[in-house]
Amino acid sequence: MHSIEELREIFTTYLNQESFQQEPKNLYEPNNYFLQIGGKRLRPTLLLLATELFGGKIENALPASLAIEYFHNFTLIHDDVMDNAPVRRGFTTIHEKYNLNTAILSGDVLMIKACEYLSKVEAIYFKTVFDVYTKTAIEVCEGQQYDIDFEKKEKVTHDEYLEMIRLKTSVLLAASMKIGAILGGANNEDADLLYSYAENLGIAFQIQDDILDCYGDETVVGKQPGGDIIQNKKTLLLIEAIKKSERNNDNRLADLLNQQSAEKVKSVLAIFDKYGIKTFALQQRDEYVQQAELSLEKINLDDNKKSVLKSLIDYLVMRDF
Ligand code: IPE
Ligand code: IPE
Ligand code: MG
Ligand code: MG
Ligand code: MG
Repeated sequence: MHSIEELREIFTTYLNQESFQQEPKNLYEPNNYFLQIGGKRLRPTLLLLATELFGGKIENALPASLAIEYFHNFTLIHDDVMDNAPVRRGFTTIHEKYNLNTAILSGDVLMIKACEYLSKVEAIYFKTVFDVYTKTAIEVCEGQQYDIDFEKKEKVTHDEYLEMIRLKTSVLLAASMKIGAILGGANNEDADLLYSYAENLGIAFQIQDDILDCYGDETVVGKQPGGDIIQNKKTLLLIEAIKKSERNNDNRLADLLNQQSAEKVKSVLAIFDKYGIKTFALQQRDEYVQQAELSLEKINLDDNKKSVLKSLIDYLVMRDF
């Protein structure tokens, strides 16, 4: 078994080896740029790890892992347009560095490249893997639409938020592990158990992402600080702050959401502080970590392998970028 760090390096070598050399440059070069400015490579690493956990060879899983990373990066390129984000991974986003059309088309071709790499999956597994992939890719789009719709929706419930992040974020992490398990020869039951584990971890992962958007160190997170606040994203933090404000007949937050002042981020964070929002979000995050731990117990793997899965919690959730 390789360590998580080794799997990440093996994947990175493969990604670099497959970098785009073809024409037209204006289509492919932005994707090389985006893939080279960083990224934690979590999803492909999870996929390869799952393959190995069930006794498969990672060589056979590399094309699928690249497909998932391409799909993920496609979603980020378009997400940055939708979220009006100037920076990602500490570098200028594609629509800002090039232009909007480049973000659209370079993103599109990356998504199609994902299908191309997926078609390299061994024939016996292809149909199963492709079905997981298409279902997941559709769900991510659905989650992204809810995320955008919620910016304008005044009342978003906790449950609506959870379903939105499950769709936009969690299912891709879970599908990565499920596809890896399938390619490793796991049976359906085990592949599904691994999916549930990663799904819960994925919820915790997105809650952490929401926390970092407000409280992370800009130079480490590599995104515009308070970007979610600027866009009125109905994150767990904002939803809870709206609830607490209403209970206290405090109109300040509602007023701030109706404007775009230079002070908006600072003022909203001050309200978060008043209502203990960060602590609340951390507690919620840890509840999903616990859920993930419960799912982990049900997986039919020996304790050594389970401890590798357990270490994913730190890797995915207890992160500062
Ligand atoms: C960012 O994902 C988008 C979310 C689902 C929160 P990552 O945090 O995995 O992004 P990179 O690939 O490491 O930059
Ligand atoms: C992104 O969620 C989810 C997808 C790209 C599918 P966010 O919008 O929170 O991700 P970041 O914070 O920009 O990475
Ligand atoms: Mg977004
Ligand atoms: Mg975003
Ligand atoms: Mg975010």
